Amino acid sequence: MASSPSDFDPVRSLAAGTYWMPFTANRRVRQNSASRLIASGRGCYYRTPEGATLFDTLSGLWCTPLGHAHPRIVEALKTQAETLDYCTGFQVTNPVTVRLADRIVAMAPDGLDHVFFTNSGSEAVDTALKIALGYHRLRGEGGRFRMIGRERGYHGVGFGGLSVGGIVPNRRMFAAGMLNGVDHLRHTHTPDTAAFSHGQPAAGADLADDLDRLVALHDASTVAAVIVEPVQGSTGVIVPPVGYLRRLRELCTRHGILLIFDEVITGFGRLGAPFAAQRFDVVPDMITFAKAVTNGVVPMGGVLVRSDLYGTFMTGPENAIEFAHGYTYSGHPLAAAVGNAVLDIMEEENLFERVLSLETVLQETVHKLDHAPGVTDVRNIGLAAAIDLQPDSIAPGARGLKLFELGLSHGLLLRCTGDTVSLAPPFVATPQELRAMGETLAGLIATVTH
Ligand SMILES: Cc1ncc(COP(=O)(O)O)c(C=O)c1O
Repeated sequence: MASSPSDFDPVRSLAAGTYWMPFTANRRVRQNSASRLIASGRGCYYRTPEGATLFDTLSGLWCTPLGHAHPRIVEALKTQAETLDYCTGFQVTNPVTVRLADRIVAMAPDGLDHVFFTNSGSEAVDTALKIALGYHRLRGEGGRFRMIGRERGYHGVGFGGLSVGGIVPNRRMFAAGMLNGVDHLRHTHTPDTAAFSHGQPAAGADLADDLDRLVALHDASTVAAVIVEPVQGSTGVIVPPVGYLRRLRELCTRHGILLIFDEVITGFGRLGAPFAAQRFDVVPDMITFAKAVTNGVVPMGGVLVRSDLYGTFMTGPENAIEFAHGYTYSGHPLAAAVGNAVLDIMEEENLFERVLSLETVLQETVHKLDHAPGVTDVRNIGLAAAIDLQPDSIAPGARGLKLFELGLSHGLLLRCTGDTVSLAPPFVATPQELRAMGETLAGLIATVTH
């Protein structure tokens, strides 16, 4: 029987394990569930049920750059819920969704003129892979079925994204369900030569030549698309070497392979430009996005698609559905209304410029840890950075987990994957807040690496 809200004890319930938490050490949570509840969020801070505040060092999961409970977003959500709370996206749509598509296209690199909406980054990736397959098939090149991803890449948890992804623990259990014929480029994290780089490492563009090797192995006529995150976020802010993405673009063009930038993390300003494609001046054939498009408030993702790809689908009988794909919540009006409010705020408050000025502060802050005891690498670009800790030789990942747990009792909600801590603070944070975050973090790192 359901308990009434007043009887409900979330600490006890969480400890019981009814709620199976995503990407979580669930048994660890159950041992100390009181420390894992967040009661509310405002601006750059969360508040715990006991009233402690936690600085949001990763903007949610890279998705809340405008901070929490932004009044204009709350208002847009309420107004839209009262006007049109849902409408199917199949055969009909609504003005706010169409407007958001127009505005996203206006921000995108020239030529990426069409948007397909999804509800998450994982769905955006699977959608882009399907567009790639459909495009080649419609052009009579259905033999192009292979997808090339990259080691350490994260493209979500659908079978498509998982297959092109390169994070071993995520893949291991599901090997039997992977897409056929996928291969991977090497990643570009080269601490032997590029540790403690500020921004893009100078060397390493030649790692893109891996694509030539894979094409020689598989034959270009079997390869549909290459998908990469311009900056690999989930495995710890791996910044592309100077010239790497341009080289990848050249090779894809030469071999008739589509290039997909997965900008679920980098899209909507994280690097101080609308998309990483503009920051690096390299235009892919598709861009996947999610997260910041709605400031994380209502789930939404999508794919930006080059005009001639879209045009290739717009053929055949006019009464036929051109792309047999979509989600019940594609282009959800609540998400779209929030997306429009997010873009208003980003434009009016010049937030991309603000990111560029905060980039300098974050860079100075994190690189104070260069060569600190137990710190093996520090990297940064845009409003994102990562710090690698020397793993404990007996228990890899234990230092990261300890750091995360210490953060909770010292006012920081940290994102630690293995022994790497990633930082992606809100765009609305102040320079003082970034410096304070850095000082607290330095103290905690000293504790866990002593
Ligand atoms: C680059 C990238 N692609 C895809 C995804 C998956 O997005 P979602 O969790 O919304 O499915 C993520 C999530 O972090 C991501 O960082």
